[in-house]
Amino acid sequence: MKRTKIKQALNAVSPMDDILVKGWVRTKRDSKGFSFVELNDGSCLGNIQAVVDHTPEIEAVLARVGTGASVAVAGALVESPGKGQKWEIRGRSIELIGEADQETFPLQKKRHSDEFLRTIAHLRPRTNKYGAVFRIRSELAQAVHKFFADKGFFYIHTPIITGSDCEGAGEMFRVTSLPAGSSLPPEEDFFGKPSQLTVSGQLNAEMFALSLGDCYTFGPTFRAENSNTPRHAAEFWMIEPEMAFADLADNMELGEEMIKRLVGHILEHCAADVDLFAKWVDKDLMPTLETLLNEPFVRLSYTEAVDILKKTKHPFDYPVEWGIDLQTEHERFLCEEQFKKPVYVYDYPKTIKPFYMRLNDDDKTVAAMDCLVPRIGEIIGGSQREERLDVLTARMDEMKLNKDDYWWYLDSRRFGTAPHAGFGMGFERMLMLVTGVANIRDVMPFPRTPNSLEF
Ligand code: 4AD
Ligand code: MG
Repeated sequence: MKRTKIKQALNAVSPMDDILVKGWVRTKRDSKGFSFVELNDGSCLGNIQAVVDHTPEIEAVLARVGTGASVAVAGALVESPGKGQKWEIRGRSIELIGEADQETFPLQKKRHSDEFLRTIAHLRPRTNKYGAVFRIRSELAQAVHKFFADKGFFYIHTPIITGSDCEGAGEMFRVTSLPAGSSLPPEEDFFGKPSQLTVSGQLNAEMFALSLGDCYTFGPTFRAENSNTPRHAAEFWMIEPEMAFADLADNMELGEEMIKRLVGHILEHCAADVDLFAKWVDKDLMPTLETLLNEPFVRLSYTEAVDILKKTKHPFDYPVEWGIDLQTEHERFLCEEQFKKPVYVYDYPKTIKPFYMRLNDDDKTVAAMDCLVPRIGEIIGGSQREERLDVLTARMDEMKLNKDDYWWYLDSRRFGTAPHAGFGMGFERMLMLVTGVANIRDVMPFPRTPNSLEF
């Protein structure tokens, strides 16, 4: 007998005589002469109900079967007389694979808070909500690769251990193989120089864009920023496309197309799971996703954005002046209140942006862009890159960067330089967007945040 995933069984087109399902018990109800056992195996949101007639042998097994136990049920897939399900299993036998102690199993059937479930991140994927989160996460990752593959982008694996600070924000985790407490200098360390975990694969990706053409990275990213917000994690995944012979307008177009494609893909392939979020997590999820799909994104210069923010009566904790970096409250106001759709803000002051962004003719702003979406704020940050060697090195001097450290990066501007552009999209923020989940900790299998490194 071949094992059948519950998803296949629930989608069956005709009855099956011989079926074997294995999964975890969600509930068990005993009746006279038989028991109902609801099983979930993680393959989909739905459970399958097994009806198992009592024999002395089966009763002995059922006595040890409680919520959370893993079991195998063999029987026939038949049309269910009950409401709410098309199929059920007429069980011929039930085998207990792994018992779950009912006194201590923490996921008895009732609603648990997200905060509590974070403390049992090793068990929370067994719940409906977190099962749905992580199925969507998997689908979303595949959709990212499919999007780029369809467009002819090459997937580049950029290094995780690095010697350069791409963003220049100094928020890097150090990597060392020296013993704890060692006072040896970096020259004595593994790489013979200081090494860190990457904050972005961009600089490496640029080298490949200027060789293979359009490409992208999709990998883990690390930031030691001490921002304990619902939108920041110390370890997260970032998608970074980089296009050769492209400018800021191309970049915005790619980001918009990507968001629309990803939203469309999830609506099509994860309908049941998305439905759970629309019902229980975010009542506005469907309208939000419809807007993302159907409305063209607004494009607004930083200067125009600042004008709007200064004119509005909306109260902000952080006052707005030309030159400041926009805070989440400002970003959210723009896309949630002012425009009620995603907004690109572009051409930011050069003083608040990294060295690699292309200087505009005004000498004050750079060809940067952030994409702002409802409930999250910034989901994409990117720019056209400075391809002119003299302008780039002048910027690096201004920002007191050591040009020797970037000799290889500057080479790309010495030999066949070309306009190019790219961006980074936070994968978890995209997942928050399509699920309506408000805290980044709840879309990550095992989140890493300040003072939190469990599991
Ligand atoms: O705006 P950021 O810092 O841009 C870069 O790193 C560029 N080098 C990307 C590029 O042009 N190739 O980060 C890009 C995106 C942000 O918009 C946000 O969605 C996400 O990465 N992000 C984070 N997500 C979760 N936790 C954090 N601590 C994040 N920091 C950035
Ligand atoms: Mg940014």
